[in-house]
This record gives sequence, structure tokens and C-alpha cells, in this order.
Amino acid sequence: MDGDSVATPEVLPGDDEATLRPKRLTEFIGQERVREQLELVLQGAAQRGTPPDHVLLAGPPGLGKTSLAMIIAAEMGSALRLTSGPALERAGDLAAMLSNLVEGDVLFIDEIHRIARPAEEMLYLAMEDFRVDVVVGKGPGATSIPLEIAPFTLVGATTRSGTLTGPLRDRFGFTAHMEFYSTEELDRVVRRSATILGVDLRADGATEIAGRSRGTPRIANRLLRRVRDFAEVRADGVVTRDVARAALEVYDVDELGLDRLDRAVLGALVRSFGGGPVGVSTLAVAVGEEASTVEEVCEPYLVRAGMLARTPRGRVATASAWSHLGLMPPVNAPGLMAPTLFGSDIDSDAAHTAD
Ligand SMILES: Nc1ncnc2c1ncn2[C@@H]1O[C@H](COP(=O)(O)OP(=O)(O)O)[C@@H](O)[C@H]1O
Ligand SMILES: [Mg+2]
Repeated sequence: MDGDSVATPEVLPGDDEATLRPKRLTEFIGQERVREQLELVLQGAAQRGTPPDHVLLAGPPGLGKTSLAMIIAAEMGSALRLTSGPALERAGDLAAMLSNLVEGDVLFIDEIHRIARPAEEMLYLAMEDFRVDVVVGKGPGATSIPLEIAPFTLVGATTRSGTLTGPLRDRFGFTAHMEFYSTEELDRVVRRSATILGVDLRADGATEIAGRSRGTPRIANRLLRRVRDFAEVRADGVVTRDVARAALEVYDVDELGLDRLDRAVLGALVRSFGGGPVGVSTLAVAVGEEASTVEEVCEPYLVRAGMLARTPRGRVATASAWSHLGLMPPVNAPGLMAPTLFGSDIDSDAAHTAD
């Protein structure tokens, strides 16, 4: 399956996010709770004159984690050093990064759940004591040399906070749980972007795009660009509701904003597995995708949209999934039962034990 549908929350070439990224906390739309919590963390530290506690940003792709990391540095008036879990394969890679930090710097580790074990262990000490032990040599002659590090603030981002080890998670002073955005918030996101990009976006056009953006600002911005192309090529450049609809039709984005992978997952779940329960890896094989992509990219929104439920026995299609695909749900489909019965069987935290 090709993953580059316009409605994927992952980064695509041409997204050009730098232009549209909010630069300060006041420009950052939505996530009221996270913003308030973060403001307190930053202000408290500023008043004490110390670097703020380490911050973990958790949530699905495209919700603003990287933007927030940059904003944290900007609000602190600090430099941002950027790396990612997969880039920190050896402890030495991290040691090099850490030893170059200047007091008050923000170190941003994207996809921190993918950090290699030895680097992770080095990070514990660095986060706690601003110190690392660098091992020199091998075998019985190996010695460990303690190295001081300038006090810094670590900002980690993850799409899978559930897979972080306890010791790593415990070393963050604050975890921001990013939520999907409401249509009203996405409406503000696309209107802001239209102003920056110089797109003539009408109110009903903005609402239409917002409603199909899968709760995700990255997708909202991308859909705006695609709709603008359509408006300029096939219409008079003005983005109205009708123009937006016609454009999104061309790009295969449905009324709920589901993309091809979302629909393939629901389709397989319903047609090949009778609605489930089925394990996520089996489901991933059926749609020809990595289990991690199905789990981290696809599922969070399907769960939030009430189409898919994670149960201890596996993934299950809800009644809305059947009807969204134009099929009759079976009488025992979740979502048709009484809410109390339904609630007792569904446990989103059981997701990782499902298979
Ligand atoms: N709260 C927000 N307000 C306005 N735009 C946002 C917001 N969050 C994200 N965006 C837009 O979405 C894009 C993707 O956000 P990003 O921070 O890269 O997400 P993540 O790192 O979580 O995948 C950004 O370039 C920005 O344009
Ligand atoms: Mg990011």
C-alpha cells in the first residue's frame, strides 16, 4: 500500500512546515490544557532562574509536537539542538550531543521511544545529574570517565508513550498529552495558514477543510494547499465550500477525512475478519503495512472517530465502521450494545497486550 495519500498525518515532501509553524505559545492554536500547563512550567522556572524540568510531548503525528519543542526554546530564549531516537544508535552519539550543550539549551529528541538502549541509559544520568560516564577502552582495562554537562532541558517527542521504559518516563517532570483538534480549532488553523499563504479562503471553505482534516493540523495545512491548487487551476482561485468539496473528492479524502489506509484497515477488519476481534499484526499484514504504522498513525484517529475499538482480544469494528463502509452492522457489533456492556469490554490501555 502506498502511504503517501494526502490525508496521511505523516510528513510528505512539499509540506514546507517551516512557513506555517506557530513560533510562540500565543500563536499555538488549541491544546488549551497543554498550553496552560506548559506556561506554568516555563514561568515557574524563569522566576527561579533555573532551566525548566524535562518535558515529554506525547501524541499522534501531526498534532504539533515539533512545533511545541521549538516554541519552548523560543519562550525560554534558548537555542534548540535537534536530534532523534533513531540517530542515537550508540551512547557515543549522545555523549557528543550532550557535551556540546551550553547552559540553558533545549535538547529536542524526536521519536525518543526509538533511542538505543545504551544511549537511553546514558540519558538517565544526564537528565538527573547533568553528568555522563564515558567509557574508554574495552574489556578489563576499560575505565569510565565522568563528564560534566551544562544544565539543559530535554524535550522528548513520542507517538508511543506507552512503549517508553519506566525509568525514562519518570525522569520527565512534565508530560504533555496532545489531543486531536476539534473542527473549530482546525478552522482557525486553516484560516491562519490561508492568511500566511495568501489564499482567498471563504468561511464555508475553511469549515469544509477543517471537517476533513482528521483532527490534525498537518493534514489541515496540506489539504488547504491541495484545495488551493484546485481552486487556481479549475476555478477562480477562491476557496469556497463547493470548491473544497470538489477538490477533496479528487484527492480521495472522504467526508470524515479518512484516507486510503484508514479505509483499507476498516475494510479488512470488516470484510476479511467479520468485524474482529483480530490482532493488530494480522490486520497490518492484511493491508500490507507495518504494524507500527497501523498502530501509531491509523488507529488513534479511528478510535477517536468511534470506528474502531481496542479490546483485550484484539481490534473490533464498531457499528459506525460498518455503516461508514455502507454495510449492515451485525447485531452484536460494538456500539449497538448498551453503553455499560460496551464500556466493560473496551479497554484502550489493553491495546499493547492484544497480540
Ligand atoms: N497548534 C497549532 N497551531 C497551528 N498550527 C499547528 C499547530 N500544531 C501543528 N500545526 C501545524 O502542523 C504542522 C505539523 O506540526 P508538527 O509540530 O510538525 O507536528 P508533530 O511534530 O506532532 O508531528 C506544523 O508545521 C504547523 O504548521
Ligand atoms: Mg514532529
